[in-house]
Amino acid sequence: MSHPLEQLQDDALREIESARDEQALETARVKYLGRSGHVSAWGEQMKTLAQEEKPIVGKLLNEVRITVTGAIESRAQQFRAQKESGALAKIDISLPGTQHEIGALHPLTQILERSIQIFRRMGFALADGPDVEDEWHCFDALNTPPEHPARNEQDTFYLPDGRLLRTHTSTVQIRTMQAAPPPIRVISPGAAYRRDELDATHSPQFHQIEGLYVDKNVSVADLKGTLEFFMRELFGPDTDVQFRPHFFPFTEPSLEVYVKSKALKGGERWIEVAGSGVVHPAVFEQVNKARGDKAYDPDKWSGYAFGLGMDRLAMILFEIPDIRHFSQNDLRFLKQFA
Ligand code: PHE
Repeated sequence: MSHPLEQLQDDALREIESARDEQALETARVKYLGRSGHVSAWGEQMKTLAQEEKPIVGKLLNEVRITVTGAIESRAQQFRAQKESGALAKIDISLPGTQHEIGALHPLTQILERSIQIFRRMGFALADGPDVEDEWHCFDALNTPPEHPARNEQDTFYLPDGRLLRTHTSTVQIRTMQAAPPPIRVISPGAAYRRDELDATHSPQFHQIEGLYVDKNVSVADLKGTLEFFMRELFGPDTDVQFRPHFFPFTEPSLEVYVKSKALKGGERWIEVAGSGVVHPAVFEQVNKARGDKAYDPDKWSGYAFGLGMDRLAMILFEIPDIRHFSQNDLRFLKQFA
């Protein structure tokens, strides 16, 4: 005749096997393995057994506990598997999946990165300044008097507190010189803002790369060499660069930069791409006043500056006829540059 413990094990296994759900299984577990369950009760009973019976019953009890525990675990595993396959069965694998498209850089970003690379090879470091500026950095420090048209409310976005959206990245010239003594060799890419009507060639927000080089004996020749090299790297060796006299309050002499390249569509036309010039001594004096020293002594130091119109450069390079494409977020346009 079998030991009552074997009977107990048979009962337990039968109940576990016939448990219909996780709750029934838990009930069975408590009934046999719980603190006041049958198996535990046998543990208590061990004390009352005769000395020679103890090891036999003890061994048997241990086997029962292991067997019942294992049976519960494998039944629980069956329930889990059922649940998972139930969830999977509801998935319609004939439905189209989620499309993950690979993004690409905006054409303006592409040309910005290429341009920065070229200037870095020439030893220019990156400088930065805020889009929301004060009048002093945007105008006064750049030798632009209060009556200058650029300061007019019709031309510039003013904030109620008197600050403004910078009308050019030349503000970073001033900030850079305030922060460090010469020599300086920086470029500063960023956005600029003007109250222009949006049309094919004008946008109230556009992009520039400012350049500033301050050292001993810097001349127009350095400026021309640098910009010619830059334009040929960007547009190819067939590119011609022309400098035409112009006026900016913060440079003297001032030059507008034009390019013409056979490699480009409409390559017989001169296109204006930058303003530039030799830093005006009055700018150095403003910086000295703000710094409270004579670091930028115009008798010792000289420099050149330029502001490249990046939207214009991108329009030439990618043959884009309308500046509005850059900000309209039309995928049909953007995908052409991916
Ligand atoms: N800031 C000028 C503009 O936006 C360009 C420029 C920069 C001219 C540096 C001279 C020197 O038109």
